[in-house]
Amino acid sequence: MTEAPGQDPHPSSAAAPPRVLVLVAHPQLEHSHITRALIDALPPVAPEDGRPTLEVRDLYRMYPDYWIDVPAEQEALARADLVVWLHPTYWYSMPPLMKLWLDEVFAFRWAYGPGGNALRGKALWLVTSTGGTHEAYRPDGHNRYFFDAFLHPHEQTAALTGMRWLPPLVLHGAHRVGSAELAEHAAVFANRIATWPGWPELADAEEPPVCSVADQDRPD
Ligand SMILES: Cc1cc2nc3c(=O)[nH]c(=O)nc-3n(C[C@H](O)[C@H](O)[C@H](O)COP(=O)(O)O)c2cc1C
Repeated sequence: MTEAPGQDPHPSSAAAPPRVLVLVAHPQLEHSHITRALIDALPPVAPEDGRPTLEVRDLYRMYPDYWIDVPAEQEALARADLVVWLHPTYWYSMPPLMKLWLDEVFAFRWAYGPGGNALRGKALWLVTSTGGTHEAYRPDGHNRYFFDAFLHPHEQTAALTGMRWLPPLVLHGAHRVGSAELAEHAAVFANRIATWPGWPELADAEEPPVCSVADQDRPD
C-alpha cells in the first residue's frame, strides 16, 4: 500500500521521497475504536509527487499464525526513513505479536551488535492509546507513574539500534474519547505522516546516543 495524506511539504523534490512505514499491531482491529480511526485517517496519495510514500503493515492480519516473515519485515524496515509503531497499550507495553516481531526482526548483527547497523539513522515514532486517563498516569493516580516512565524500553530499543526516538503521540482515556476529539487526534496523526520529515521539533532534536554491545556480551 503506498499513500500519504495532506499538504505538500516537499514541493519540488527531485530526490526520492521520504518513506514512512506504519506497523499496526491490534489483536482485534474489528473491535478497535482508536487504532481503527487512525488507520482510516490515512487517505491514499500517489507517491511520485514528492510526499512521503507510505507502507502500512497490519501484523495481525499478515501473521495470524504468528509465523513472521523476518526477511520481508527487515526489507520493509530497510526501505523506511520513519518507522511508526501503531498499537494500543497492553499491560503498560505492546500487544504480543508486536513484541514477537521485535524479538525476531531486530536481530543481533542486523539491528544491533557488531555490524548491526541496518536501522541506524532511521526514526521511530510510537503512536498509542491507553484506557487509563491522563490523571491515572500520575504519581497520585492508579498507575502511579507518568506514562513516559513506561516508555523507557521503547526509547532504549531505539537508542541501541541507532534510531532517533521521536516524541510519542499518545491518546489517554481511550474509552471516554468523544468523536470530535478522536477526529482531531486522527487528523494530527495523518498530518504528521504527511509532513514527515518537516516536523518543527526535529530541527532541535538531539542525535541518538551511541550504544554499542560488546562482542563478549552476546554469543552468536
Ligand atoms: C489486554 C489488555 C491490556 C490493556 N492494558 C492496558 C494498560 O496497561 N494500560 C492502559 O491504560 N490501558 C490498557 N488497556 C486498554 C487499552 O489500551 C485500550 O482499550 C486501547 O488503547 C483502546 O484502543 P482501541 O480502540 O484501538 O482498541 C488494555 C486493554 C487490553 C485488552
